[in-house]
Amino acid sequence: MKVLVLNGVNLGRLGQRQPEVYGATTHAELAEHLVETGSGLGLDVEVRQTDHEGVMVEWLHEAAASGAAVVINPGAWSHYSYAIADAVVQVSTVVEVHISNVHARESWRKELVISPYVRGTIMGLGLGGYDLALAHLASL
Ligand code: DQA
Repeated sequence: MKVLVLNGVNLGRLGQRQPEVYGATTHAELAEHLVETGSGLGLDVEVRQTDHEGVMVEWLHEAAASGAAVVINPGAWSHYSYAIADAVVQVSTVVEVHISNVHARESWRKELVISPYVRGTIMGLGLGGYDLALAHLASL
């Protein structure tokens, strides 16, 4: 199974950005780990990150056209991007991941506009949430 792990806005700064919330691992280290973990699970994993909403929408269109499964962490777009929600609806298999527990943070993070359109959401379990998402996809 081909899996696109799509990380959105600000997630390219993992390791530098609020390490007390998001941890010390960089995006490059996360990507390497997920490719390796995926290959152990028989998944062909590709990890991407963008700060541009339109690029994220295009990647989701690519997954919709190719049939690839998606693990997505939309970052702050999770809370307001109807464009990404509309693109996610078109992809057959999507798991949403949040590193932090957004319900334990600012009230504006409680609204999750993409969550109704995904198979499931994993949050608050740190970077391990991505591994759990891959394990779920491998079990399908
Ligand atoms: C996040 C949570 C969002 O509220 C935040 O804007 C992010 C990261 C998470 O992984 O915990 O950028 O999606």
